[in-house]
Amino acid sequence: MTPSPTEAAVPRSVRRCARRPAFVAALCAAVLAVTGLTAAAPPEQDVPGAAAALPYQDPSLPVPQRVEDLLGRMTLDDKLGQMTQVEKDALVPSSDLATYRIGSVLSGGDSTVSPNNAQTWADTYDSLQRTALTTPLGIPMIYGIDAVHGHNAVRGATLFPHNIGLGATRDPALVQRVGRAVAEEVAGTGIDWSFAPCLCVARNDRWGRTYESFGETPELPTAMTSFITGLQGGTLGGDPASVLATAKHYLGDGGTTGGVDQGDTRLSETELRAVHLPPFKEAIKRGVGSVMLSYSSWNGVRSHAHKYLVTDVLKGELGFTGFVVSDWAAVDQLDGQTGFTGAEIATAVEAGVDMVMVPHDYKRFLSLLRGEVTAGRIPQARIDDANRRILTKKFQLGLFERPLTDRAYTATVGSAAHRTLARQAVRASQVLLKNDGGVLPLPKTGRLFVAGKSADDIGNQSGGWTLGWQGRSGPVTEGTTVLQGIRAAVADPSRVTYDRYGNGIDGGYTAAVAVVGETPYAEMRGDRPDGMGLDQEDLQTLARLKASGVPVVVVLVSGRPLDIADRLPDWKALLAAWLPGTEGGGVADVLFGDHAPTGKLPMTWMRSASQQPINDGDGKSPLFPYGHGLTYGTDPDPDPDPDPDPTPAKACTATHKPVNSWPGGHQAEVTVKNTGTGPITGWTVDWDLGGATVTSLWNGTHTVANGRITVRGTGSGGTLAAGATTSFGYTANGPAGTPAPRCTPA
Ligand code: GLC
Repeated sequence: MTPSPTEAAVPRSVRRCARRPAFVAALCAAVLAVTGLTAAAPPEQDVPGAAAALPYQDPSLPVPQRVEDLLGRMTLDDKLGQMTQVEKDALVPSSDLATYRIGSVLSGGDSTVSPNNAQTWADTYDSLQRTALTTPLGIPMIYGIDAVHGHNAVRGATLFPHNIGLGATRDPALVQRVGRAVAEEVAGTGIDWSFAPCLCVARNDRWGRTYESFGETPELPTAMTSFITGLQGGTLGGDPASVLATAKHYLGDGGTTGGVDQGDTRLSETELRAVHLPPFKEAIKRGVGSVMLSYSSWNGVRSHAHKYLVTDVLKGELGFTGFVVSDWAAVDQLDGQTGFTGAEIATAVEAGVDMVMVPHDYKRFLSLLRGEVTAGRIPQARIDDANRRILTKKFQLGLFERPLTDRAYTATVGSAAHRTLARQAVRASQVLLKNDGGVLPLPKTGRLFVAGKSADDIGNQSGGWTLGWQGRSGPVTEGTTVLQGIRAAVADPSRVTYDRYGNGIDGGYTAAVAVVGETPYAEMRGDRPDGMGLDQEDLQTLARLKASGVPVVVVLVSGRPLDIADRLPDWKALLAAWLPGTEGGGVADVLFGDHAPTGKLPMTWMRSASQQPINDGDGKSPLFPYGHGLTYGTDPDPDPDPDPDPTPAKACTATHKPVNSWPGGHQAEVTVKNTGTGPITGWTVDWDLGGATVTSLWNGTHTVANGRITVRGTGSGGTLAAGATTSFGYTANGPAGTPAPRCTPA
């Protein structure tokens, strides 16, 4: 209810008294007077011109001053409540939000609203916020959610590629734009805070959260902290769509032994700092407002109990001034027993946790926390520090001035503009790993057969954290499947046949496109300690396609590299699509050449699962190295005047192209083109290494003698047609130099 203008001048807490029957009003006013809580509530959004009665309610004052003024008015219960984060569905009754002065609400992976749409989320948020504002000090709550590849809890939201795909783009500016779009959709539902981005450096692809990692080297997640700037804006709270970001999970979540989720990262401090810390350093430089701790341990000590890492390094050495939030019920794990204890709470808070994601039994939590403080096991100074950190972010976000949903952004949820951006991100994330005989791009006039369990499945192409914690197969939300993208791209959709299992294919098709890979999973259920290959359904589908003799193009929808080396010879092309999200049209854009593939591997691609962990520079020989990615062959030397001689002249060229370089090494790609007038059954390419040493080579076999390398290869199926190209790649120690490879046709 909006108070009248004259009422508006009166502090809301007093106004609230005034609205009650006289005797209650008198009692209420007396209570307020005695407790000194005659604090006016902050001016509501819908109360223009409401005067700020107290310093903390005055947005013209510096934030530190507002924080100190508010802190000085808070009771111990007010302060302990600010350190408490509760799952929305655990708040029963919702008035407990005010009764227990709870400062934060979250929606965990399976938390939802009904009906599930942006309006309902916004209404739910506003209702909870209004409850929070009824407290004597009217401190707004802050609401967090895992918007990790779009606002993925909301049906109809735009879902972007998961981080592994965004890492493949090598485009931090694009990732920043993605972050901004996510922020607009999150803000449109009222929610203030996303538990994103994961800055994990995934070192073992067996880890079920590999897809939440931008890449296996610290450089890629560091570069992609641009997502934070997208979410928060240049200044936190600088505009109504600014959303608090979270750098997670600190520290070393992607480095556990065996890739075990929530496992133990056994590294020296030097290695831990070199591999896992750089992204958090960059996140802090970008002003990230929160850091979430990792369930994992470092050399046997849980991150949530690690005072050195959290207080000394993160807050002290790196100067992090935001607040540290625990992971979901992570405090419960500290003593290895079910549930949480006062001792565990004290350990976590003393280590540096400022806000505890309880997330359910908040009454018991608050009681135990209060007990630890009154017993002196948690110093009051630690409580005040935690509150200063949390309140600073609430003030900076503008929550005191704009506590309710800005409905101007609600319409951005799933908007055409955001889907266009998502499709661009999908295109840029595609990594072309193999393209024999230039089978890609596909002709739009071809007769195509599409198969595979993930060809027509939004759920599979979106992966985990999609309309539910673990995600699931099926039509889970609005979007475009890969198959729909293919049909929209071709000249005549009736020439595209689809059968999930490949049944009905014959030799008359131009090509078969098999969209296969993994079904959705998330943390705790995505680890692959054993095999990392394709499942039986995919293998049977691929066998049917192979038997037809039709060229097979494989599109791999997966959250990580898979063990497919032994299957690769049967495939003319392989495109890593990762987990593209709702805009499957971006995959078709690349398949048909509307956009040439530009993606580069963010993870080294194993030759075998037995190689895990396998990472750039570790000396192992991968199937495809970190950074590998082909594009469509621009004709290196177009032959405008084809030789009129009817005798099929045998000729070929080899074009060397540096792809990547680093101190002491480089990677390059060599494109072999049949420039003759007839097919060749093979080729040899040789050049002087100039002192470099080849460490790995793919799509060819090589020998080295007297400082010169010789690579032998064929086209797919044993021949290279006239005018066709194929390519091989290699990594080497030493300078790339300017090799002049010589091609000799077989
Ligand atoms: C989960 C995840 C974390 C997420 C949090 C809230 O357990 O580890 O990434 O942000 O809980 O859903």
